[in-house]
Amino acid sequence: MTARSEIRFVLNDRDISLQEVGASDTLLDFLRIDRRLMGTKEGCAEGDCGACTVLVGRLQGGTLRYEPVNACIRLTASLDGCHIVSIEYLSGPQGRLHPVQQAMVEHHGSQCGFCTPGIVMSLYALWMENPAPTAVQVETALQGNLCRCTGYEPIIKAALAVTTYGSPADDTLTRERDTMTAKLIALHDGRRIDVAKGASRCILPASVDDLASVLMELPQATLVAGATDVGLWVTKFLRDISPVVFLSHLDGLRQVVISDTNITMGAGVSYSDSRKAMAADYPHLGPFWDRIAGWQIRSMGTIGGNVANGSPIGDTPPVLIALGATITLRKGNLRRTMAVEDFFVAYGKQDRAPGEFLESIAVPRPAANAIHAAYKISKRRDEDISSVCAAFNVTVEDGVITAARLAFGGMAGTPKRASHAEAVLVGAVWSEATLLAAAARLGDDFAPLTDWRASAEYRLQVSKNLFRRFWLEQQAGAADVRLGA
Ligand SMILES: Cc1cc2nc3c(=O)[nH]c(=O)nc-3n(C[C@H](O)[C@H](O)[C@H](O)COP(=O)(O)OP(=O)(O)OC[C@H]3O[C@@H](n4cnc5c(N)ncnc54)[C@H](O)[C@@H]3O)c2cc1C
Ligand code: FES
Ligand code: FES
Repeated sequence: MTARSEIRFVLNDRDISLQEVGASDTLLDFLRIDRRLMGTKEGCAEGDCGACTVLVGRLQGGTLRYEPVNACIRLTASLDGCHIVSIEYLSGPQGRLHPVQQAMVEHHGSQCGFCTPGIVMSLYALWMENPAPTAVQVETALQGNLCRCTGYEPIIKAALAVTTYGSPADDTLTRERDTMTAKLIALHDGRRIDVAKGASRCILPASVDDLASVLMELPQATLVAGATDVGLWVTKFLRDISPVVFLSHLDGLRQVVISDTNITMGAGVSYSDSRKAMAADYPHLGPFWDRIAGWQIRSMGTIGGNVANGSPIGDTPPVLIALGATITLRKGNLRRTMAVEDFFVAYGKQDRAPGEFLESIAVPRPAANAIHAAYKISKRRDEDISSVCAAFNVTVEDGVITAARLAFGGMAGTPKRASHAEAVLVGAVWSEATLLAAAARLGDDFAPLTDWRASAEYRLQVSKNLFRRFWLEQQAGAADVRLGA
């Protein structure tokens, strides 16, 4: 089958077909410059402020699902087969305000107004998913939207009141759901897509097997999953990333399979979906996952991208290492599986060959008698990168620790296990004294750096303190305290 050389999607109520798309073209530029839809704003151009929030609807297992995303770092070619909803689509005939907009007006949720379209879009997504949210759910939905004028209180009041101005059942996206679903199904023709603009080239493989073939032909191509890292290479470093191979649309990389032994997630499973996949077995990870970025980034960013980029301050690698997860890498038809910790060779260097990609991540189901915890230490509670991230997985049988996996981020050039501390734990009595003895060995495991996030002394001290916190929480049975920074 020949490749298709155009990107097709629906923007509000318009069918769009683009024959020329460059690897670095962003959705925000398409909206504002190409289509002159100026309601979507550009604040930071790095996924932080949420001023550029739009909804992207895509088919998942045949069901149409809308999520908020940051248009500033969403690359246009990745939108093939999607429905993009911008702020302009919200107002009704004769400019009648949408219930979310009406609530914002009535509750004085806007002052300078710059953040308002983005906030309205996030609240729109929340209202459709959950018309009667709690204040905490509103705050979680707005983690990725910054407002420097209102102090948020009026916005939260507006969010809690939206349902008094209208019901999602009467909303355009609900009424048009069946028609839009049929339209998007028709757009998916199962072909590889290969589009270019000048010398800049984008490829959307047709399947995971096709991805493997494309990478054998173009082993140096830039892989793009959620673009929550790569998007910044474009907007902040002006890097030429062509040729690009997009992964995020591949259903074969977005599958979750739960067996008796493992939760196996495709590398393209988003942060949000990986949270759901692990919620039943590892409930303590819910609040931890909610501290990764904001809703928009959690909709876009993938668990595979978070591992593959090899960042020493990524939040999921320490958790995956502590849980004993493995990854499967694929090159052509050859696959190899390794422990997550073995993937990280040195700062900026991972055990991945040209043409190879991360296919899946398998997390073991919890062992009997295992005690887990995960902590994120950052300057801000929401929408911040970790100074230190720690994950503990300790098995206690008859009062004795029989297994221990402790993993840290932000403490070395890679996410890494604390092997000296683990050695103190295994075979010892489960007690505060044992944990503090293990904490005392952290200086043998890590020599952290000082940078703008934290000093070396702070990193080491706070990591030691987490052992005490782990003990106290277990004694108190207080899962909720893990939410705190
Ligand atoms: C505003 C903002 C907030 C953030 N907050 C956090 C946070 O709180 N915690 C955190 O950990 N991170 C955070 N990040 C970083 C970012 O979300 C992650 O690193 C993310 O997981 C990357 O995943 P992605 O799917 O977006 O990857 P991409 O940006 O698409 O790719 C990242 C790298 O991985 C490679 N890659 C992707 N998928 C594969 C694959 N399947 N096989 C091989 N290589 C692959 C790409 O080639 C690229 O080198 C934040 C980013 C932003 C913009
Ligand atoms: S412009 Fe700030 S998140 Fe996109
Ligand atoms: S109203 Fe001014 S930034 Fe939010």
